Amino acid sequence: MSRTIGPVLGVLSILILASPAAAADAAATFKTKCAMCHGADGAGQTAMGKKLAIRALGSAEVQKQTDAELIAIISKGKGKMPAYGGKISDSEIAGLTAHIRTFAKK
Ligand code: HEC
Repeated sequence: MSRTIGPVLGVLSILILASPAAAADAAATFKTKCAMCHGADGAGQTAMGKKLAIRALGSAEVQKQTDAELIAIISKGKGKMPAYGGKISDSEIAGLTAHIRTFAKK
């Protein structure tokens, strides 16, 4: 019993410890790379956001898109939205997508 539970607990604690850290990383990346256009809260109420008429990331129109669709926009860009594929890692892009989900209207 103890021989099997040890590794299982180890993996569980890594999962539990890793996810808040990854979320904090995504929040920091969003602030440095995305907030100048999208705003720290994703609402797009910045000079650039208003000029480019960016939709609020928390809006239903944006949130109804799948993770795959949001990941594709962040990687490949869209209109004036720069492409981030190759500039930041796929796991960072996935983290940013999860961060965008936190902007959803509750
Ligand atoms: C130079 C300004 C700028 C920066 C920096 C920027 N974006 Fe954007 N983003 C835009 C614009 C403009 C659009 C709208 C594109 C369109 O619909 O034509 C957009 C659209 C999006 C969308 C799709 C929203 C929708 O309307 O469906 C997502 C998701 C997104 N951006 C995420 C990000 C993330 C994550 C980052 C940081 C890694 C980022 N953006 C950085 C300008 C920017």
